[in-house]
Amino acid sequence: MTLQSVAVGEAAEHGAHAAAARRRTLGGVAVVGLGYWGPNWARNLYQMQCARRVVCCDFSHQRLAHVKNLYPAIETTTELDDVLRDSGIEAVIVATPVSTHFDIASRSLAAGKSTLVEKPLATSAPAAHRLRTMARERGVTLMVGHTFEYSAPVLKIREIICSGELGDIFYVSSVRANLGLFQRDVNVAWDLATHDISIILMLLGQMPHEVSCHGQSHYRHNMEDVAMLTLRFANNLIAFVHVSWLDPNKIRRATIVGSRKMLVYDDTALQEKIRVYDKGVTISPYYDTYGDFQMSYRYGDVYIPRIEESEPLKVECEHFIDCIIRGRTPKTDATSGLRVVSVLEACERSLRSGGAFVPIEPGIEG
Ligand SMILES: NC(=O)c1ccc[n+]([C@@H]2O[C@H](COP(=O)([O-])OP(=O)(O)OC[C@H]3O[C@@H](n4cnc5c(N)ncnc54)[C@H](O)[C@@H]3O)[C@@H](O)[C@H]2O)c1
Repeated sequence: MTLQSVAVGEAAEHGAHAAAARRRTLGGVAVVGLGYWGPNWARNLYQMQCARRVVCCDFSHQRLAHVKNLYPAIETTTELDDVLRDSGIEAVIVATPVSTHFDIASRSLAAGKSTLVEKPLATSAPAAHRLRTMARERGVTLMVGHTFEYSAPVLKIREIICSGELGDIFYVSSVRANLGLFQRDVNVAWDLATHDISIILMLLGQMPHEVSCHGQSHYRHNMEDVAMLTLRFANNLIAFVHVSWLDPNKIRRATIVGSRKMLVYDDTALQEKIRVYDKGVTISPYYDTYGDFQMSYRYGDVYIPRIEESEPLKVECEHFIDCIIRGRTPKTDATSGLRVVSVLEACERSLRSGGAFVPIEPGIEG
């Protein structure tokens, strides 16, 4: 994986998409799962008018009534099979609990629908791998909802790193904490750290070679509500990710330290989310005795880059529709989803073995 390949998300035309490329809107798009997050998808699809029909599917009549009340033109159903049998629906967005992703996404792909699966793509690397193969065999788009890869501040940070302004990256330290929302089927790493891992892999343009994870469950057996991940990369580059559902404050903060400059990203700030600090350390190259060892600290200016903000989910939604219509490979394609799942899976193994470092299995690309 190179930075360019991650950054640009190279376009690849699929033969099966040629007919779709002549159209500018889709016939129908379905959102499956209208709990906490799914209604945001329904809103964006409804407002963008990128499909002639928007169909919402959930077991819960109450959730369906809620979205129907907000967006009267949408259609609703409690049956996933209604969506899968409907030849007018070309794309399905899976916004159900993580443990259901593989089952729903594989049925959607088997029905020939382009599919977007919310993060993380699946609960294991083999399952993510299988989804990628199914999408390829059927020539349909498969995308994963790594929303922060569509966020303007994250894209700006990547631009700053790629320009070399920070120098060689030494480490990344990321904190994502708040009180709740506890998930029923996955621990806090699979829920929250998914975001940080996808951001870090995208910013650094490489996979870690080993990871370790410590965590603790306080409310439910083997369902950690606080965790600390360590990702080791080549050339001494290291990343730390602290995630928690048990924190009094909402924190969304990452620090990136380079050999030239340092950057702090605070996603909870209403404005001025990124600050670049001209701070660093220099070691004198010459000294005769240990006592002569000299470090000098540079305390320079701080600047705040200008960012054109837009809702990341809207950008992501437009990208998904555009990839289907043009037959392009999404920036956050199945391989991107597989990379993140592979890191999470290794973290899970580390967690179950007391935090030992666990290598990342090769064989993700391709
Ligand atoms: N990208 C982001 O920033 C972001 C943010 C939050 C959540 N998410 C992801 O969104 C997904 C959903 O999370 P949530 O917090 O909204 O969960 P939730 O539990 O609040 O809602 C899930 C909904 O799915 C419905 N459902 C479950 N199985 C179904 C099925 N087979 N058919 C129809 N409906 C079904 C449930 O009835 C429920 O209403 C998860 O994958 C989560 O990781 C992504």
